[in-house]
Amino acid sequence: MFYRVILIYIVFIGLFSCSESKKENPDFAADIAPIIRKNCSKCHVDGGAGPFNLVNYEDVASKGKLITYVTENKIMPPWPADPEYTHFAGETVLSYEEINLIKKWVEQGAIPGDTANLETYKKPENKVDLGKAGMTVFLAKPFLIPGDNSDRFYVVKFPIELPYDTFIRAVEFVPHKKKLVHHMNAHLINYEDGKKSNLHKGPYWINQDQSESVRIHKDLDLLNDDGSYPEMTPSVSNYLPGSQFSFYPHGIGGFRIKKKSALYLNDIHFGPSAKEELDSSYFKLYFGKGPAERPVSEFQIGTLGLSPVVPELIIPANEKKTFYIQFTVPQDISLLSIVPHMHLIGKKFLAYAIKPSGDTIRLIRINNWDFRWQYFYQPKKMLFVPRGSVIYVVGDYDNTSENPNNPFDPPREISEKNGSMKTTDEMFQLILTYVPYQKGDEEKSLE
Ligand code: HEC
Repeated sequence: MFYRVILIYIVFIGLFSCSESKKENPDFAADIAPIIRKNCSKCHVDGGAGPFNLVNYEDVASKGKLITYVTENKIMPPWPADPEYTHFAGETVLSYEEINLIKKWVEQGAIPGDTANLETYKKPENKVDLGKAGMTVFLAKPFLIPGDNSDRFYVVKFPIELPYDTFIRAVEFVPHKKKLVHHMNAHLINYEDGKKSNLHKGPYWINQDQSESVRIHKDLDLLNDDGSYPEMTPSVSNYLPGSQFSFYPHGIGGFRIKKKSALYLNDIHFGPSAKEELDSSYFKLYFGKGPAERPVSEFQIGTLGLSPVVPELIIPANEKKTFYIQFTVPQDISLLSIVPHMHLIGKKFLAYAIKPSGDTIRLIRINNWDFRWQYFYQPKKMLFVPRGSVIYVVGDYDNTSENPNNPFDPPREISEKNGSMKTTDEMFQLILTYVPYQKGDEEKSLE
């Protein structure tokens, strides 16, 4: 017995001293480069979204203090979802050990270590083989970003003309000016035969602020010729800096596409620029072989959606206020993505489901809402939510002048304004994309 205790003790000391000594004098090559390259470099690299490179020793050492600050305060890497609540595919978060190691390294004067033998960094590629992209879709007129240092939010149509009706497996967005393109959501509009004569009538893009959402379809001339609404497949493509182009497992997510169709971007956000820029971001369509086995659908709840925000989304000036949404899932579903949405004065977002059995399914918690980082969170595996489950969503808003993101100074009353999608008005939404549940779905990986 005594013998065994001693043995365990020795092993423990061994492990402990080994990991401690490594951390005692961390150096760039051995300790810091792996953390930075895994979590930062994909954006902080030539042609990436970040404002400067973080790849090699000099890049990182020269920004040491700032890096300590942004990592300790969880500003970087950007990942608003709380990893202590739920994990998602493609999650980028640093552990406490990693944050502390970076801090220690900076405090000790940024020791380089054996940087000569550090491998050259390679940006991660999309490993998915979708075959050749069938087609690229460009806009006839590039986006204009005036050099006035303000954000731009455009609503856009990308007309598509094909020789025949077919299916697409995935739609990839290819940003042009990567430092400016912030986020983008696209839906697919299909025109039934004979319903739309001219896809190019009307503007290709307009400033979101110049339009009320109810009118956007009209302003962009997206309606059928007789004024009726065409069919729309929601969220066929989404983009945020650093997010991998997402697609679903085989057999899921083929979309029907008609000869005459259009990608409708209800939101593309360009960050501020000091000089005038033209942006020619475009799409790639990957064609599928046959009818979509399991088309993706979505529940949009809250603002403009299936169930109302309670109380009505009005946040008086100088107040902090909490709102709720509740929605009963009408059928057995397998969740593919979870998309929280608020605007500038949103502070916290929480969503979970209570199953008919009384068990809780955690969906997402965001403790510090940041309007700029709106990810489409995909669970690691398809997430089964049984029929009759009740989804609860709780949103906190801060309309005081303490909130640095408040668009008004002094604060003014902010509300939904009938679903105006202006960024200075508010929204409170949860969008869930799903397919009807099939046995074995919960084993299917979305990573
Ligand atoms: C998803 C892309 C992405 C990833 C991953 C990322 N960054 Fe950034 N980073 C940005 C962008 C974009 C900005 C520009 C400011 C902004 O939009 O918030 C930025 C800004 C910064 C800044 C400047 C902040 C300031 O206030 O001036 C620092 C420092 C930084 N990042 C460090 C890091 C570190 C360290 C990591 C990894 C631990 C990291 N970033 C990961 C995209 C990213």
